[in-house]
Amino acid sequence: MQFQLTEDQQLLRDTVRQFVEKEARSSAAERDEHAEWPTELVQKMGEMGLLGVAVSEEYGGAGLDYISYALVIEELSRVDSSLGVIASVNNSLVCYGLEKFGTEEQKRELLVPLASGRALGAFSLSEPGAGSDAASQKTTARREGDAYVINGVKNWVTNGDHADTIILMAMTDPSKGYKGITAFLVDTNEPGCSIVKVENKLGIRSAHSCQMAYDNFRVPTWRRLGEEGQGFKIAMTILNAGRIGIAAQALGIAQGAYEAALSYAKVREQFGQPIADFQAVGFTLADMATRIKAARLLTYEAAWRKDQGQDYIRDAAMAKLFASETAMWVTTKAIQVHGSNGYSKEYPVERFFRDAKITEIYEGTSEIQRLVISREIVKD
Ligand code: CAA
Repeated sequence: MQFQLTEDQQLLRDTVRQFVEKEARSSAAERDEHAEWPTELVQKMGEMGLLGVAVSEEYGGAGLDYISYALVIEELSRVDSSLGVIASVNNSLVCYGLEKFGTEEQKRELLVPLASGRALGAFSLSEPGAGSDAASQKTTARREGDAYVINGVKNWVTNGDHADTIILMAMTDPSKGYKGITAFLVDTNEPGCSIVKVENKLGIRSAHSCQMAYDNFRVPTWRRLGEEGQGFKIAMTILNAGRIGIAAQALGIAQGAYEAALSYAKVREQFGQPIADFQAVGFTLADMATRIKAARLLTYEAAWRKDQGQDYIRDAAMAKLFASETAMWVTTKAIQVHGSNGYSKEYPVERFFRDAKITEIYEGTSEIQRLVISREIVKD
């Protein structure tokens, strides 16, 4: 058993850490306040290979493993988790799905620009009536000659207003239930696809989440991902990998909040001593560090299993469940350690706290993760 990152993994982690410390930390609060999309930072992430970390070099990616991918998302999120989710969606919800299920033509035409940072991707499964019950898709795709005609509304499309390509699920045969769902690679520059609204959110505010409408939107057949009826399985497979990314995002948020609390507790004095020297605060910091370490081990192990070609559905769900609940717990305590200062936007912990919540919700709520885990362990 090996608990050490490789030299390459450490170098990558340090490189991403330096990048966000230098280029993202000082502006993160401002971007959050104004829900400002980080145009230049996304471009730089692309140039650094952070948008296609685990995609093979042949298709424009960095050709690294999934542990490296988790490290990237963790480090981005330790400073600004909006950057974390923007990168996570492109890496695992889009590039991974395209590399796994795409045709050679789709990979050459679409994956290469997405993985190399020349284009950005989004993933579109959720609808007004299809959240946890992802199979109840109302968006339809009707075959017409050499194209499909898409009609419907999609919710919570992260990166939606900046995406060039969207992996979109739609019903090609409603009579077949989830076996009637098909995946498409939507070109957002084509007419018939529009942004209804960009959500005004509690957290991850500079990563935009959109409601999008499709009105007789035509997708040529070469842009169908997989076969007709395979869309639900494709979506679930993509989400398994995505959950490792969200676990890493939650881990980074928890780590960032913990570091802020630790630094604060060492310098903030009350009753004539640093508050870190009070047992109540010291024990809180000890619990934070312990839970974060457990979340990190779960996350890296899920990534490692994926790298080894082992089953990881249960492990990704466990990592996501535990890391996201850790992020919520740690950020709540980080505010408590800061006292009233933690409630102020002058300090970063309230942003970490707001950002943490979504990790318990998207790419499957904690309740759905428990469902996935329980089904997996019962069938074993
Ligand atoms: N991996 C692979 N296959 C899976 C799977 C998984 N995790 N979960 C289900 N499947 C397969 C099943 O094996 C079954 O396939 P077969 O026909 O071959 O047997 C098929 O899918 C149907 O499965 P179920 O009968 O279990 O389907 P269900 O409807 O009862 O439940 C669910 C499925 C687990 C609840 C699923 O709907 C789910 O994961 N819901 C959560 C959806 C979600 O995570 N949404 C996030 C949207 S993306 C997002 O957050 C936006 C963003 O941009 C970040």
